[in-house]
Amino acid sequence: MATIAVAGKGGTGKTTICALVVRYLLARGETPVLAVDADPNSNLGQTLGVEVGITVGSAREQGFTGDREIPSGMTKDDFVQYKIQEALAEAEGFDLLTMGRPEGAGCYCFANNIIRRYMDALADDYCHVVMDNEAGLEHLSRRTTRRTDVLLVIADAGIRGVDAARNVLDLAAEMELEVGESLFVLNRAGDKARDALMPEIERLKLPLAAVIPEDPALFEAEVAGRSLLELPDGSPSVDAAAPLFDKIFGTV
Ligand SMILES: Nc1ncnc2c1ncn2[C@@H]1O[C@H](COP(=O)(O)OP(=O)(O)O)[C@@H](O)[C@H]1O
Ligand SMILES: [Mg+2]
Repeated sequence: MATIAVAGKGGTGKTTICALVVRYLLARGETPVLAVDADPNSNLGQTLGVEVGITVGSAREQGFTGDREIPSGMTKDDFVQYKIQEALAEAEGFDLLTMGRPEGAGCYCFANNIIRRYMDALADDYCHVVMDNEAGLEHLSRRTTRRTDVLLVIADAGIRGVDAARNVLDLAAEMELEVGESLFVLNRAGDKARDALMPEIERLKLPLAAVIPEDPALFEAEVAGRSLLELPDGSPSVDAAAPLFDKIFGTV
């Protein structure tokens, strides 16, 4: 069982790479997978072709801002667990949990503790956990008992892309996240861009684990509203990511 977290600046390809991980695991029968969308500005559900109903965030609001919502005879604890269960969208071979809105300024510590505890327990029911994070790594920092086996830091080949990856690493270090291994993935790049960026990547002191090329199939899937799980074998992004995933899931 492995927990993979994907992090990086917005727009670098985190959600896409999460979907590629899920696709990889489904194709190899490494199921069930728990996919967690921990980026409120994200759309992992859409990318995986899953209809998202309520989110964990909205369950928390319901349970903790209006007591009338809680059926009599149910504790808040029970209610939050029940609501999170309801927020779990089931699909073929995987479930998707969408975290939704981060908590506001109000005191939700109690709710968050329940959510944290429940999510740690929930993860035990799965073969692998794949987590799509926002740039601030908020949800990742909240996890308690479960460590992240692999943190994939994604950057694109754009200007300051590698700098942004360094920020993510610094943040992870500051938060003292328990991470087994951090790996660097350069997305939307060819050999030329990789070579040009190599000195910068070396300064990152993170192994360059994969280079994913620009893949027209991703754009086509997006405009057609198709799930990335339907990407055909042989798509450039699928093929480029496969050796990395072989390594991650073959060894953990
Ligand atoms: N290797 C790639 N080739 C072509 N398009 C890509 C590639 N990686 C990501 N994209 C596109 O870039 C956009 C942003 O990717 P996304 O995964 O949503 O980034 P993030 O989750 O980091 O914000 C999407 O439209 C996606 O289809
Ligand atoms: Mg995203």
